[in-house]
Formats: sequence, C-alpha cells, structure tokens
Amino acid sequence: MIDPSVLRAQLTQTLTHTPFTAIGGKPLTRYDGKVRDCYIDTSERIIVVTDRLSAFDAVVGTIPFKGQVLNQLAQFWFEHTKDIAENHMLRVPDPNVMIARECEPLPVELVMRAYLTGVTSTSIWKAYESGARVFCGHPLPAGMKKNQRLPAPILTPSTKAAKGDHDVSVSKDELLAMGRISPALFARAEAIAARLFAAGQAHAAKQGLILADTKYEMGVARDGELVVIDEIHTPDSSRYWHADDYEARLARGEEPRNLDKEYVRRWLAGEAKWSGDGPPPTLPDDIRVEAARRYIASYELVTGTSFVPDTREPIARIAAAIGATC
Ligand SMILES: Nc1ncnc2c1ncn2[C@@H]1O[C@H](COP(=O)(O)OP(=O)(O)OP(=O)(O)O)[C@@H](O)[C@H]1O
Ligand SMILES: [Mg+2]
Repeated sequence: MIDPSVLRAQLTQTLTHTPFTAIGGKPLTRYDGKVRDCYIDTSERIIVVTDRLSAFDAVVGTIPFKGQVLNQLAQFWFEHTKDIAENHMLRVPDPNVMIARECEPLPVELVMRAYLTGVTSTSIWKAYESGARVFCGHPLPAGMKKNQRLPAPILTPSTKAAKGDHDVSVSKDELLAMGRISPALFARAEAIAARLFAAGQAHAAKQGLILADTKYEMGVARDGELVVIDEIHTPDSSRYWHADDYEARLARGEEPRNLDKEYVRRWLAGEAKWSGDGPPPTLPDDIRVEAARRYIASYELVTGTSFVPDTREPIARIAAAIGATC
C-alpha cells in the first residue's frame, strides 16, 4: 500500500494539461477530451492520459497519479484480452502515454450492464425505480432491488453526444433506426462487447471483485478491422464492487463497497451540492488524496501487482519519452 505522504507530495505536480506543439519535430493535430490529450498523426494517435477527473460530464480537478493508474490499467486489460478482441494499443512509452492505432470511432458507446444500479437520472436503476420495466429494449423482471444482479448481462447502446452534451441511452432498434451504424457492423461490436465483458467479469471475480458495468468504445482501423479503442475496464469506464460483502450489504439494503469514481461523485453531489450545473466546486486536498488512494487500490486489486508511482515532473518526462516539444 502506498504511503499517503507520496500522494500528498504529488498534489502540486499533477498532470493537468500537456502543452506540446510538435512530436518528433512534426506539428500534430490535437484533440483534448475530458481526460486525455490526443495528438493525431496519420495512422497513430498519441494518447496522453492526464490526471483530470470528469464527473457529471465536466472536468472537476486533478487526482494524483490518476493518469498513470488509468493508462496502466488499460494496458493491463488490453494485454489480458488481446486474444478475445483486437484493440488499438501499439506501445506504452511512458506511464501516462499510450500510442494507439488511429481509428474511425463508431458513433455509439457500448455499455454492458450486469446489475440494476446507478445514480444519475439516466441510469437503469433510476428508470426502474420510476416504474420502467423495459430498459433500452430489455424487459426487466418485477420486484428487483437496487444493486441486484440482472438475469443476464445486457447491452444498452449510448449515442455519443457532441462535446458538452450528455450521451443518450437507446435500444438496439432505436439505434439502427437512426441509421448511424449498419446492422452488420453493430452486430460485430455487440459480439465483441459481450465477449470482453464476460472475460472482464471472470478476471474480476478471481480478484474478489464484481465488474458491475462498463462502457466500450470501438473504431474501425485503416485496414477495416473493428478494434476496441480508448480505455477498457478502468474505474472511469466501469463500476467495480468488492465481492466479499456484496450479498450481505444487499440484504441489509446498503450500497456495495465500490472502487470507482462514485467516491468523488458522492462528495460533489452530497457535501458540495453540485451535480453538473454551473462551475464545479474546488476539490479539497483530502478528497483528492483519498480518491488517489482508491484509484491506486483499484489498480492493485485488479492486476494483483503493486502500483509503482512515477513521481518525476510529468511534462518534461513525457516530452522526453515521446520526443515532444512545447
Ligand atoms: N484509437 C483511437 N482512434 C480514434 N479516436 C480515439 C482512439 N482512442 C480514443 N479515441 C478518442 O479520443 C478521445 C479520448 O479522450 P477522452 O477519453 O478524454 O474523451 P472523453 O471526454 O471521454 O470524450 P469526448 O471526446 O466526448 O471529450 C475520445 O474522443 C475517444 O473517442
Ligand atoms: Mg473517454
């Protein structure tokens, strides 16, 4: 377990933004997502995973070592699942960087859910609680409790909104009726998502965890292959619970012990009374340190290995690793 003083010392050195203007002497197109700074070459995408944390679709601050945790967890999972599904990973030249195959992203995110849960107004639990017995085309049994396991995992596609907008969950039929993706391509994506989710759940179970739900992004590579892009089975894209006391807590009507972003979301929505409207509150250092501890714990539990934090100043370090200039 990491010494909390290491987390505290990193608070002033988190990776907020990368200021690179050229890589390998070439000026590249950049795209900043909420969490990743992407530098796009013709066939490769250099993805710098920053320490930014997004919640309620906004960037709310930075968490020490979060970028390294996410990048190295994605690396772990891409390696672990490479025989199950093709993915975009080419190289990891720095703890915070993944060089990937540049793809044409599908206009849809593939969300796999195995449990009746969620906190936001668009979650399966909120829909169920307000009386819905069909969610994204899937019939749901009567009499279910919050956080209970679904009869079988379901895929609930979510259409990717333009930057700043919220994504919308739809049924497969609704999605296909929009004409944004062909039925054949969607069927391939659906099969990949189901296989990956089964593999993710099986590995999580071996580590004493429940992979309750997750989101995949896929894209078409230049050779026409459908590959998994972005990140996979990280605490940002997934909900992980501890398995040992799940049943007991469910029986008592308590929330599962979670490893994901829920901790910060709860602080924001609870103490700070902010759930996405207006400018976000400033995250207190204690919350940032505790969130870092949780991200690192998720890495260690999922991979079964110790997290080795890289405490060097991140911008100079990354610039040297990828040959970037400011
Ligand atoms: N191999 C790839 N090819 C093309 N695009 C990719 C690839 N991997 C990831 N991306 C895209 O790069 C961006 C990664 O940034 P990040 O995860 O921070 O974005 P986000 O905030 O989740 O999404 P948004 O694009 O809405 O800002 C996403 O737009 C993702 O779709
Ligand atoms: Mg993303």
